[in-house]
Amino acid sequence: MKAAVYEGPRKVSVKDVPDARIEHPCDILVKVTTTNICGSDLHMYEGRTSFEPGRTLGHENLGQVVEVGSAVSKVQVGEYVVLPFNIACGFCKQCERGLTNYCLTMQPEPSLAGAAYGFAEMGPYQGGQAELLRVPYGDFNALRLGEDAAERQLDYVMLADIFPTGYHATEMARVRPGDQTLVMGAGPVGLMAAYSAILKGAGRVWVADHQQDRLRIAEEIGAVAIDTNEADPVEVVKDATLGLGADNGCECVGYQAHDPQGQEDASLTVNQLIDAVRFTGDIGVVGVYLPEDPGGEDAQGELEAQGKLPLDYGLMWFKGQTMGTGQAPVKRYNRALRDLVAGGRAEPGFVVSHELDLDEAPSAYEHFDRREDGWTKVVLHPDGHRP
Ligand SMILES: NC(=O)c1ccc[n+]([C@@H]2O[C@H](COP(=O)([O-])OP(=O)(O)OC[C@H]3O[C@@H](n4cnc5c(N)ncnc54)[C@H](O)[C@@H]3O)[C@@H](O)[C@H]2O)c1
Ligand SMILES: [Zn+2]
Ligand SMILES: [Zn+2]
Repeated sequence: MKAAVYEGPRKVSVKDVPDARIEHPCDILVKVTTTNICGSDLHMYEGRTSFEPGRTLGHENLGQVVEVGSAVSKVQVGEYVVLPFNIACGFCKQCERGLTNYCLTMQPEPSLAGAAYGFAEMGPYQGGQAELLRVPYGDFNALRLGEDAAERQLDYVMLADIFPTGYHATEMARVRPGDQTLVMGAGPVGLMAAYSAILKGAGRVWVADHQQDRLRIAEEIGAVAIDTNEADPVEVVKDATLGLGADNGCECVGYQAHDPQGQEDASLTVNQLIDAVRFTGDIGVVGVYLPEDPGGEDAQGELEAQGKLPLDYGLMWFKGQTMGTGQAPVKRYNRALRDLVAGGRAEPGFVVSHELDLDEAPSAYEHFDRREDGWTKVVLHPDGHRP
């Protein structure tokens, strides 16, 4: 089968790899029809993770079931399913508590937790930027879609990661109706966090970024854009709230946060949120931070390369804020968010800027990695069909 394979920093090629297949009685095999490129893939693409050359990328996957293992009883051949990027067993201590983002049995390294398709430090699983995908524990992991699945793939595929992840940021930040919420980052995840806050009835949602094309989309969904080329988000928010600050903040950038000129500073956005959010406010951090960053020393410094960041912890403590962090537990939200999509209440496919064939993955990575104007979210169709 064809797959988008990571070859080393800034090199992806589409090549023939062994077909994915059923390896365990609980597996299902999915013909991938829609698979996204994510900002998380870019950390790997740039060589800023331990992701091994030769592996297939792709953790935001939707497709049609073509085969099921002998112990699969719910999922049927022919159904459309969307797969949470987290791979989970359903029976470990963490999964029992709903923490499928930190499953213990799907992660082979005993000192780690959590697994995902085509992802650094998240187990050996291949990604779905390929014609076929093996899905472990298919009955537990696959979310089945209704009759409108084939036509509405651009909305439903966002349930694999960014819609639940954006929603999770607002849950950790405890966004409630009427709240004033600051979102750092207008990438696909930041846009989904803003969209989720608006769906929850937030009174005002600001989205800060230096990419004007992405800020325009934030405005289209009803958020207030803050262009960091021109304004400091902390000042904008304080000015608008009598100096009190926002009720909550969502960090949707991660450790490669940078100023508009491109100078990286991993602690920049978290410290801005600590400053901009009010006393006792809540902050949800879904942007990725890592204990080791192979390119971090050159880009930022020796300490940042070890994930040691100068956070304004004294101010955060003094203000009595809470901060939630980590990979999103997609399964906690994906069924409810699917039903919002099915019921016509949410259309997360608005983030899609490009629909391409799998063969176009190498150039898609280049354009998206440069955050070129208009390249907001790339969707690949390995089956060659555009819904
Ligand atoms: N926690 C999870 O489960 C989870 C899931 C998906 C993605 N992520 C992470 O979320 C982050 C965002 O993902 P994405 O797909 O939107 O990525 P992206 O790279 O497309 O978007 C990031 C955006 O942040 C902006 N940005 C950079 N520095 C900034 C700053 N100082 N202030 C404001 N904006 C700034 C960029 O211009 C860009 O628009 C990444 O770190 C990704 O790995 C986490
Ligand atoms: Zn993703
Ligand atoms: Zn588990």
